[in-house]
Amino acid sequence: MTDSSNAIKPSRRAFLSGAAAAGAALAATGAQAQAPDPMITEVQPWASGLGDGVDASPYGLPIRHEADVVRRNVEWLTADTISSINFTPIHALDGTITPQGCAFERHHSGAIDMTKADYRLMINGLVDRPLIFTYDDLLRFPRENHVYFCECAANTGMEWAGAQLNGAQFTHGMIHNMEYSGVPLRTLLNEAGLSGDMAGKWIYVEGHDASSNGRSIPMEKALDDVLVAFKANGEALRKEHGYPVRLVVPGWEGNMWIKWLRRVEVMDNAVESREETSKYTDTLADGTSRKWTWVMDAKSVITSPSPQAPIKHGPGPMVISGLAWSGQGAITRVDVSKDGGITWETARLAKPGERMALTRFYLDTTWDGGEMLLQSRAIDETGYVQPTKAQLREVRGENSIYHNNCIQTWHVLPTGEAENVEVS
Ligand code: MTE
Ligand code: CO
Repeated sequence: MTDSSNAIKPSRRAFLSGAAAAGAALAATGAQAQAPDPMITEVQPWASGLGDGVDASPYGLPIRHEADVVRRNVEWLTADTISSINFTPIHALDGTITPQGCAFERHHSGAIDMTKADYRLMINGLVDRPLIFTYDDLLRFPRENHVYFCECAANTGMEWAGAQLNGAQFTHGMIHNMEYSGVPLRTLLNEAGLSGDMAGKWIYVEGHDASSNGRSIPMEKALDDVLVAFKANGEALRKEHGYPVRLVVPGWEGNMWIKWLRRVEVMDNAVESREETSKYTDTLADGTSRKWTWVMDAKSVITSPSPQAPIKHGPGPMVISGLAWSGQGAITRVDVSKDGGITWETARLAKPGERMALTRFYLDTTWDGGEMLLQSRAIDETGYVQPTKAQLREVRGENSIYHNNCIQTWHVLPTGEAENVEVS
Protein backbone atom coordinates (compact mmCIF):
# COMPACT_ATOMS: atom_id res chain seq x y z
CA MET A 1 0.00 0.00 0.00
CA THR A 2 1.21 3.51 -0.74
CA ASP A 3 0.38 6.49 1.43
CA SER A 4 -0.97 9.72 0.06
CA SER A 5 2.48 11.26 -0.39
CA ASN A 6 3.34 8.44 -2.78
CA ALA A 7 0.06 8.61 -4.65
CA ILE A 8 0.37 9.35 -8.33
CA LYS A 9 0.00 13.09 -8.68
CA PRO A 10 0.99 14.09 -12.21
CA SER A 11 3.29 17.08 -12.22
CA ARG A 12 2.56 19.85 -14.72
CA ARG A 13 5.25 18.39 -16.96
CA ALA A 14 3.84 14.89 -16.72
CA PHE A 15 0.40 16.31 -17.34
CA LEU A 16 1.53 18.07 -20.53
CA SER A 17 3.31 15.05 -21.92
CA GLY A 18 0.27 12.97 -20.98
CA ALA A 19 -1.99 15.41 -22.79
CA ALA A 20 0.27 15.28 -25.83
CA ALA A 21 0.11 11.52 -25.77
CA ALA A 22 -3.66 11.65 -25.54
CA GLY A 23 -3.76 14.14 -28.41
CA ALA A 24 -1.56 11.87 -30.47
CA ALA A 25 -3.84 8.94 -29.79
CA LEU A 26 -6.86 10.96 -30.82
CA ALA A 27 -5.13 12.23 -33.94
CA ALA A 28 -4.40 8.67 -34.90
CA THR A 29 -8.10 7.73 -34.68
CA GLY A 30 -9.59 10.80 -36.36
CA ALA A 31 -8.81 12.83 -39.49
CA GLN A 32 -9.78 16.12 -37.91
CA ALA A 33 -6.58 17.20 -36.23
CA GLN A 34 -5.39 19.43 -39.11
CA ALA A 35 -8.81 20.71 -40.25
CA PRO A 36 -10.27 23.96 -38.91
CA ASP A 37 -12.87 23.23 -36.24
CA PRO A 38 -16.24 24.74 -37.27
CA MET A 39 -17.21 24.96 -33.62
CA ILE A 40 -14.48 27.59 -33.41
CA THR A 41 -14.48 29.12 -36.90
CA GLU A 42 -18.25 29.30 -37.67
CA VAL A 43 -20.91 31.43 -35.99
CA GLN A 44 -23.34 28.95 -34.41
CA PRO A 45 -27.16 29.35 -34.26
CA TRP A 46 -27.10 29.94 -30.51
CA ALA A 47 -24.84 32.93 -31.04
CA SER A 48 -26.93 34.47 -33.84
CA GLY A 49 -30.46 34.13 -32.38
CA LEU A 50 -32.19 34.48 -29.05
CA GLY A 51 -32.39 31.91 -26.30
CA ASP A 52 -35.45 31.12 -24.17
CA GLY A 53 -37.04 33.79 -22.01
CA VAL A 54 -37.15 33.58 -18.24
CA ASP A 55 -40.69 32.20 -18.22
CA ALA A 56 -39.91 29.16 -20.38
CA SER A 57 -39.69 26.87 -17.35
CA PRO A 58 -41.05 28.33 -14.09
CA TYR A 59 -39.77 25.17 -12.41
CA GLY A 60 -36.70 24.04 -14.33
CA LEU A 61 -35.95 20.58 -15.61
CA PRO A 62 -32.56 19.29 -16.78
CA ILE A 63 -31.68 20.25 -20.37
CA ARG A 64 -32.84 17.66 -22.94
CA HIS A 65 -29.26 16.59 -23.66
CA GLU A 66 -29.13 15.05 -20.18
CA ALA A 67 -32.28 13.02 -20.71
CA ASP A 68 -30.51 9.74 -20.01
CA VAL A 69 -29.53 10.79 -16.48
CA VAL A 70 -32.63 9.30 -14.93
CA ARG A 71 -33.71 6.66 -12.45
CA ARG A 72 -33.78 3.22 -13.99
CA ASN A 73 -35.28 -0.16 -13.13
CA VAL A 74 -33.82 -3.60 -13.31
CA GLU A 75 -36.41 -5.41 -15.38
CA TRP A 76 -36.28 -8.79 -13.64
CA LEU A 77 -36.50 -7.12 -10.23
CA THR A 78 -39.54 -5.04 -11.11
CA ALA A 79 -42.50 -7.40 -11.06
CA ASP A 80 -44.79 -4.39 -10.73
CA THR A 81 -43.94 -0.70 -10.43
CA ILE A 82 -46.08 -0.06 -7.32
CA SER A 83 -44.27 -2.23 -4.80
CA SER A 84 -40.88 -1.69 -6.31
CA ILE A 85 -37.55 0.04 -6.50
CA ASN A 86 -35.58 2.11 -8.99
CA PHE A 87 -31.99 3.30 -8.95
CA THR A 88 -30.11 6.61 -8.74
CA PRO A 89 -27.89 7.31 -11.80
CA ILE A 90 -24.79 7.65 -9.60
CA HIS A 91 -22.52 6.97 -12.59
CA ALA A 92 -23.55 10.31 -14.11
CA LEU A 93 -23.59 12.52 -11.00
CA ASP A 94 -20.66 14.31 -9.37
CA GLY A 95 -20.18 15.96 -6.00
CA THR A 96 -22.31 14.40 -3.29
CA ILE A 97 -25.82 15.89 -3.29
CA THR A 98 -28.47 13.82 -5.05
CA PRO A 99 -31.13 15.87 -6.85
CA GLN A 100 -34.55 14.66 -5.69
CA GLY A 101 -35.66 14.23 -9.31
CA CYS A 102 -33.31 11.27 -9.85
CA ALA A 103 -32.97 9.90 -6.30
CA PHE A 104 -33.91 6.21 -6.04
CA GLU A 105 -37.40 5.33 -4.84
CA ARG A 106 -38.56 2.35 -2.85
CA HIS A 107 -42.25 1.90 -2.15
CA HIS A 108 -44.03 -1.03 -0.55
CA SER A 109 -47.48 0.13 -1.64
CA GLY A 110 -46.86 3.04 -4.00
CA ALA A 111 -46.15 6.75 -3.49
CA ILE A 112 -49.20 8.41 -1.94
CA ASP A 113 -50.49 11.91 -2.63
CA MET A 114 -51.36 13.83 0.54
CA THR A 115 -51.65 17.54 1.26
CA LYS A 116 -50.02 19.47 4.07
CA ALA A 117 -53.54 20.32 5.28
CA ASP A 118 -54.42 16.61 5.64
CA TYR A 119 -51.13 15.76 7.30
CA ARG A 120 -51.12 14.58 10.93
CA LEU A 121 -48.37 13.12 13.09
CA MET A 122 -49.40 11.31 16.27
CA ILE A 123 -47.16 10.55 19.23
CA ASN A 124 -48.65 8.06 21.68
CA GLY A 125 -47.80 5.15 23.97
CA LEU A 126 -45.59 5.64 27.03
CA VAL A 127 -45.81 9.45 27.04
CA ASP A 128 -47.31 11.92 29.50
CA ARG A 129 -49.72 13.36 26.91
CA PRO A 130 -50.38 11.80 23.53
CA LEU A 131 -50.14 14.56 20.92
CA ILE A 132 -51.20 15.15 17.35
CA PHE A 133 -49.19 17.62 15.26
CA THR A 134 -50.31 19.27 12.05
CA TYR A 135 -47.76 20.24 9.41
CA ASP A 136 -47.89 23.86 10.57
CA ASP A 137 -47.34 22.77 14.19
CA LEU A 138 -44.04 21.16 13.16
CA LEU A 139 -42.81 24.44 11.67
CA ARG A 140 -42.98 26.09 15.12
CA PHE A 141 -40.26 23.92 16.67
CA PRO A 142 -36.57 24.80 16.38
CA ARG A 143 -35.24 23.05 13.30
CA GLU A 144 -31.89 21.84 11.99
CA ASN A 145 -30.22 21.14 8.64
CA HIS A 146 -28.10 18.04 8.01
CA VAL A 147 -26.78 16.19 4.98
CA TYR A 148 -27.23 12.42 5.25
CA PHE A 149 -27.13 9.43 2.93
CA CYS A 150 -30.10 7.07 2.78
CA GLU A 151 -29.15 3.59 1.59
CA CYS A 152 -31.65 0.77 1.12
CA ALA A 153 -30.45 -2.31 3.01
CA ALA A 154 -30.89 -4.19 -0.28
CA ASN A 155 -28.38 -2.00 -2.15
CA THR A 156 -25.86 -4.33 -3.87
CA GLY A 157 -28.10 -7.21 -2.71
CA MET A 158 -28.13 -8.85 -6.14
CA GLU A 159 -24.36 -9.30 -6.09
CA TRP A 160 -24.02 -11.89 -3.30
CA ALA A 161 -23.77 -14.97 -5.50
CA GLY A 162 -21.78 -13.37 -8.32
CA ALA A 163 -21.28 -10.22 -10.40
CA GLN A 164 -24.70 -9.59 -11.91
CA LEU A 165 -25.67 -6.07 -12.85
CA ASN A 166 -23.65 -4.07 -15.30
CA GLY A 167 -23.53 -0.54 -13.96
CA ALA A 168 -22.88 1.40 -10.75
CA GLN A 169 -26.46 2.68 -10.99
CA PHE A 170 -27.76 -0.90 -10.63
CA THR A 171 -25.17 -2.34 -8.25
CA HIS A 172 -24.97 0.69 -5.92
CA GLY A 173 -27.77 3.10 -6.89
CA MET A 174 -30.18 2.40 -4.01
CA ILE A 175 -28.66 5.39 -2.27
CA HIS A 176 -29.24 9.11 -2.15
CA ASN A 177 -27.73 11.97 -0.19
CA MET A 178 -29.66 15.12 0.60
CA GLU A 179 -29.67 18.07 2.91
CA TYR A 180 -32.67 17.69 5.21
CA SER A 181 -34.43 20.40 7.16
CA GLY A 182 -36.50 19.21 10.06
CA VAL A 183 -37.18 19.01 13.78
CA PRO A 184 -35.23 16.55 15.95
CA LEU A 185 -37.57 13.71 16.97
CA ARG A 186 -36.20 14.22 20.49
CA THR A 187 -37.87 17.64 20.62
CA LEU A 188 -41.29 16.20 19.73
CA LEU A 189 -40.92 13.27 22.15
CA ASN A 190 -40.05 15.70 24.93
CA GLU A 191 -43.07 17.79 24.01
CA ALA A 192 -45.24 14.71 24.56
CA GLY A 193 -43.32 14.05 27.78
CA LEU A 194 -41.19 10.98 28.34
CA SER A 195 -41.85 9.81 31.86
CA GLY A 196 -39.51 7.63 33.85
CA ASP A 197 -36.41 5.80 32.73
CA MET A 198 -36.29 5.50 28.96
CA ALA A 199 -33.34 3.07 28.96
CA GLY A 200 -34.22 0.00 26.91
CA LYS A 201 -37.45 1.53 25.59
CA TRP A 202 -38.40 1.60 21.91
CA ILE A 203 -40.39 3.63 19.47
CA TYR A 204 -42.52 2.12 16.73
CA VAL A 205 -42.82 4.34 13.64
CA GLU A 206 -45.18 3.97 10.71
CA GLY A 207 -46.32 5.81 7.59
CA HIS A 208 -49.68 6.98 6.19
CA ASP A 209 -49.39 4.65 3.17
CA ALA A 210 -51.25 1.33 3.03
CA SER A 211 -48.07 -0.65 3.74
CA SER A 212 -47.35 1.57 6.78
CA ASN A 213 -43.82 0.13 6.69
CA GLY A 214 -43.75 -0.10 10.52
CA ARG A 215 -40.37 -0.32 12.20
CA SER A 216 -39.08 -0.42 15.79
CA ILE A 217 -36.21 1.90 16.72
CA PRO A 218 -34.35 1.81 20.05
CA MET A 219 -35.05 4.90 22.18
CA GLU A 220 -31.35 5.71 22.38
CA LYS A 221 -31.25 6.32 18.61
CA ALA A 222 -34.62 8.13 18.66
CA LEU A 223 -33.26 10.62 21.18
CA ASP A 224 -29.92 10.98 19.40
CA ASP A 225 -29.98 12.25 15.79
CA VAL A 226 -33.30 11.17 14.24
CA LEU A 227 -35.00 14.01 12.34
CA VAL A 228 -38.62 14.62 11.39
CA ALA A 229 -37.87 16.22 8.02
CA PHE A 230 -40.03 18.30 5.71
CA LYS A 231 -37.49 19.71 3.25
CA ALA A 232 -34.78 18.07 1.17
CA ASN A 233 -32.12 20.06 -0.68
CA GLY A 234 -33.96 23.23 0.31
CA GLU A 235 -37.34 22.39 -1.23
CA ALA A 236 -40.35 20.39 -0.17
CA LEU A 237 -39.87 16.63 -0.16
CA ARG A 238 -41.04 15.14 -3.44
CA LYS A 239 -44.11 12.94 -3.25
CA GLU A 240 -42.00 9.84 -3.82
CA HIS A 241 -39.72 10.69 -0.90
CA GLY A 242 -42.54 11.11 1.62
CA TYR A 243 -44.22 14.51 1.13
CA PRO A 244 -44.93 16.27 3.33
CA VAL A 245 -42.93 14.68 6.20
CA ARG A 246 -40.51 11.76 6.49
CA LEU A 247 -38.29 10.30 9.16
CA VAL A 248 -34.52 10.60 8.71
CA VAL A 249 -32.51 7.97 10.62
CA PRO A 250 -28.85 8.88 9.98
CA GLY A 251 -26.54 6.02 9.06
CA TRP A 252 -29.25 3.36 9.50
CA GLU A 253 -30.88 1.26 6.78
CA GLY A 254 -33.26 3.10 4.46
CA ASN A 255 -36.21 0.93 5.45
CA MET A 256 -36.32 2.74 8.82
CA TRP A 257 -36.63 6.17 7.14
CA ILE A 258 -40.44 6.17 7.28
CA LYS A 259 -42.04 8.24 4.52
CA TRP A 260 -45.38 10.04 5.01
CA LEU A 261 -44.68 9.67 8.75
CA ARG A 262 -47.97 9.07 10.58
CA ARG A 263 -47.27 7.79 14.07
CA VAL A 264 -44.56 7.37 16.68
CA GLU A 265 -45.49 5.09 19.58
CA VAL A 266 -43.27 4.83 22.65
CA MET A 267 -43.15 1.18 23.76
CA ASP A 268 -41.50 -1.21 26.20
CA ASN A 269 -40.44 -3.64 23.49
CA ALA A 270 -39.77 -3.88 19.79
CA VAL A 271 -42.82 -4.86 17.75
CA GLU A 272 -40.91 -7.34 15.56
CA SER A 273 -42.98 -6.33 12.54
CA ARG A 274 -42.81 -7.94 9.11
CA GLU A 275 -40.27 -5.36 7.97
CA GLU A 276 -37.83 -6.32 10.73
CA THR A 277 -38.29 -10.10 10.86
CA SER A 278 -39.10 -11.80 7.57
CA LYS A 279 -37.50 -8.84 5.75
CA TYR A 280 -34.39 -6.80 6.43
CA THR A 281 -32.62 -9.46 8.49
CA ASP A 282 -29.33 -11.00 7.41
CA THR A 283 -28.92 -14.69 6.68
CA LEU A 284 -25.53 -15.98 7.82
CA ALA A 285 -23.32 -18.65 6.26
CA ASP A 286 -24.59 -21.27 8.75
CA GLY A 287 -28.22 -20.62 7.79
CA THR A 288 -29.21 -18.72 10.95
CA SER A 289 -30.24 -15.06 10.81
CA ARG A 290 -29.05 -12.01 12.65
CA LYS A 291 -31.79 -10.37 14.65
CA TRP A 292 -31.07 -6.71 14.01
CA THR A 293 -28.75 -5.00 11.56
CA TRP A 294 -29.48 -1.31 11.54
CA VAL A 295 -26.23 0.47 10.71
CA MET A 296 -25.01 0.66 7.12
CA ASP A 297 -21.30 -0.16 7.36
CA ALA A 298 -18.57 1.62 5.37
CA LYS A 299 -18.79 1.13 1.63
CA SER A 300 -17.58 2.75 -1.58
CA VAL A 301 -17.87 2.42 -5.33
CA ILE A 302 -16.06 3.87 -8.32
CA THR A 303 -18.69 5.70 -10.35
CA SER A 304 -16.38 6.66 -13.22
CA PRO A 305 -15.04 4.83 -15.09
CA SER A 306 -17.74 2.17 -14.73
CA PRO A 307 -19.87 0.16 -17.15
CA GLN A 308 -22.25 3.06 -17.86
CA ALA A 309 -19.42 5.63 -17.79
CA PRO A 310 -16.62 4.25 -20.00
CA ILE A 311 -13.33 6.05 -20.58
CA LYS A 312 -13.76 8.19 -23.69
CA HIS A 313 -10.17 9.36 -24.16
CA GLY A 314 -6.86 7.80 -25.00
CA PRO A 315 -3.97 7.05 -22.65
CA GLY A 316 -2.77 9.91 -20.44
CA PRO A 317 -4.27 11.92 -17.65
CA MET A 318 -7.48 10.55 -16.24
CA VAL A 319 -9.72 11.11 -13.25
CA ILE A 320 -11.05 8.11 -11.38
CA SER A 321 -13.99 9.14 -9.22
CA GLY A 322 -16.36 7.58 -6.78
CA LEU A 323 -18.43 7.75 -3.61
CA ALA A 324 -17.78 6.47 -0.09
CA TRP A 325 -19.96 6.46 3.01
CA SER A 326 -20.33 4.95 6.45
CA GLY A 327 -23.26 4.71 8.83
CA GLN A 328 -20.76 4.62 11.70
CA GLY A 329 -19.50 8.15 11.09
CA ALA A 330 -17.18 9.97 8.72
CA ILE A 331 -15.07 8.50 5.92
CA THR A 332 -11.41 9.17 6.70
CA ARG A 333 -9.69 7.51 3.73
CA VAL A 334 -10.42 5.81 0.44
CA ASP A 335 -7.89 3.66 -1.41
CA VAL A 336 -8.07 2.81 -5.09
CA SER A 337 -6.55 -0.25 -6.78
CA LYS A 338 -6.04 -0.69 -10.52
CA ASP A 339 -4.95 -4.31 -10.24
CA GLY A 340 -7.78 -6.01 -8.39
CA GLY A 341 -6.54 -5.25 -4.88
CA ILE A 342 -2.85 -6.15 -5.13
CA THR A 343 -1.58 -2.57 -4.85
CA TRP A 344 -3.43 0.45 -3.54
CA GLU A 345 -3.12 4.24 -3.89
CA THR A 346 -4.80 6.68 -1.55
CA ALA A 347 -7.46 8.78 -3.25
CA ARG A 348 -8.09 12.49 -2.65
CA LEU A 349 -11.25 13.30 -0.71
CA ALA A 350 -13.01 16.26 -2.32
CA LYS A 351 -13.81 17.49 1.21
CA PRO A 352 -13.10 15.96 4.59
CA GLY A 353 -15.63 13.18 5.21
CA GLU A 354 -18.84 14.21 6.97
CA ARG A 355 -20.66 11.93 9.38
CA MET A 356 -23.24 9.66 7.74
CA ALA A 357 -23.03 11.54 4.44
CA LEU A 358 -21.60 10.67 1.04
CA THR A 359 -17.96 11.57 0.48
CA ARG A 360 -16.68 12.16 -3.05
CA PHE A 361 -13.20 10.85 -3.84
CA TYR A 362 -10.92 11.35 -6.83
CA LEU A 363 -7.74 9.66 -7.96
CA ASP A 364 -5.99 12.03 -10.39
CA THR A 365 -3.91 9.58 -12.32
CA THR A 366 -2.51 8.44 -15.66
CA TRP A 367 -4.01 5.69 -17.77
CA ASP A 368 -1.53 3.62 -19.73
CA GLY A 369 -4.28 2.43 -22.06
CA GLY A 370 -4.18 -1.07 -20.65
CA GLU A 371 -6.65 -3.21 -18.75
CA MET A 372 -7.46 -2.37 -15.16
CA LEU A 373 -9.27 -4.16 -12.36
CA LEU A 374 -10.55 -1.07 -10.58
CA GLN A 375 -11.53 -1.26 -6.93
CA SER A 376 -12.10 1.22 -4.12
CA ARG A 377 -11.88 0.56 -0.39
CA ALA A 378 -13.39 2.88 2.22
CA ILE A 379 -12.13 3.38 5.76
CA ASP A 380 -14.19 5.21 8.36
CA GLU A 381 -13.46 7.10 11.57
CA THR A 382 -13.80 3.93 13.67
CA GLY A 383 -10.91 2.35 11.70
CA TYR A 384 -13.29 -0.10 9.98
CA VAL A 385 -12.06 -1.15 6.53
CA GLN A 386 -14.55 -2.07 3.78
CA PRO A 387 -14.30 -5.88 3.34
CA THR A 388 -13.64 -7.91 0.20
CA LYS A 389 -16.43 -10.08 -1.16
CA ALA A 390 -14.56 -13.19 0.02
CA GLN A 391 -14.30 -11.84 3.58
CA LEU A 392 -17.99 -11.00 3.67
CA ARG A 393 -19.01 -14.39 2.26
CA GLU A 394 -17.04 -16.20 4.99
CA VAL A 395 -19.52 -14.85 7.53
CA ARG A 396 -22.60 -14.26 5.46
CA GLY A 397 -22.51 -16.99 2.81
CA GLU A 398 -24.04 -16.34 -0.61
CA ASN A 399 -27.73 -16.42 0.22
CA SER A 400 -28.05 -13.03 1.82
CA ILE A 401 -29.86 -10.06 0.32
CA TYR A 402 -29.22 -7.17 2.64
CA HIS A 403 -26.17 -5.27 3.87
CA ASN A 404 -23.70 -6.18 1.16
CA ASN A 405 -20.89 -3.60 1.56
CA CYS A 406 -18.10 -5.53 -0.16
CA ILE A 407 -15.44 -4.06 -2.44
CA GLN A 408 -16.68 -3.74 -6.04
CA THR A 409 -14.50 -4.56 -9.07
CA TRP A 410 -14.83 -3.03 -12.55
CA HIS A 411 -12.81 -4.64 -15.34
CA VAL A 412 -11.71 -1.79 -17.62
CA LEU A 413 -10.72 -2.84 -21.15
CA PRO A 414 -8.24 -1.08 -23.49
CA THR A 415 -11.32 0.21 -25.39
CA GLY A 416 -12.23 2.15 -22.23
CA GLU A 417 -15.32 0.06 -21.64
CA ALA A 418 -15.88 -1.48 -18.22
CA GLU A 419 -17.75 -4.48 -16.89
CA ASN A 420 -18.81 -5.85 -13.52
CA VAL A 421 -16.54 -8.73 -12.46
CA GLU A 422 -15.38 -10.56 -9.34
CA VAL A 423 -11.77 -11.21 -8.41
CA SER A 424 -10.90 -14.10 -6.14
N1 MTE B 1 -41.86 4.43 4.28
C1 MTE B 1 -43.12 4.12 3.94
N2 MTE B 1 -44.12 4.72 4.60
N3 MTE B 1 -43.39 3.23 2.95
C2 MTE B 1 -42.38 2.59 2.26
O1 MTE B 1 -42.65 1.78 1.37
N4 MTE B 1 -39.93 2.27 2.04
C3 MTE B 1 -38.70 2.22 2.85
C4 MTE B 1 -38.39 3.62 3.43
N5 MTE B 1 -39.56 4.21 4.01
C5 MTE B 1 -41.02 2.87 2.61
C6 MTE B 1 -40.81 3.85 3.65
C7 MTE B 1 -37.49 1.76 2.17
S1 MTE B 1 -37.27 0.08 2.03
C8 MTE B 1 -36.48 2.62 1.81
S2 MTE B 1 -35.03 2.02 1.19
C9 MTE B 1 -36.65 4.09 1.89
O2 MTE B 1 -37.91 4.45 2.41
C10 MTE B 1 -36.49 4.66 0.49
O3 MTE B 1 -36.70 6.05 0.49
P1 MTE B 1 -36.87 6.80 -0.91
O4 MTE B 1 -38.03 6.19 -1.64
O5 MTE B 1 -37.01 8.23 -0.57
O6 MTE B 1 -35.59 6.54 -1.67
CO1 CO C 1 -35.20 -0.17 1.35
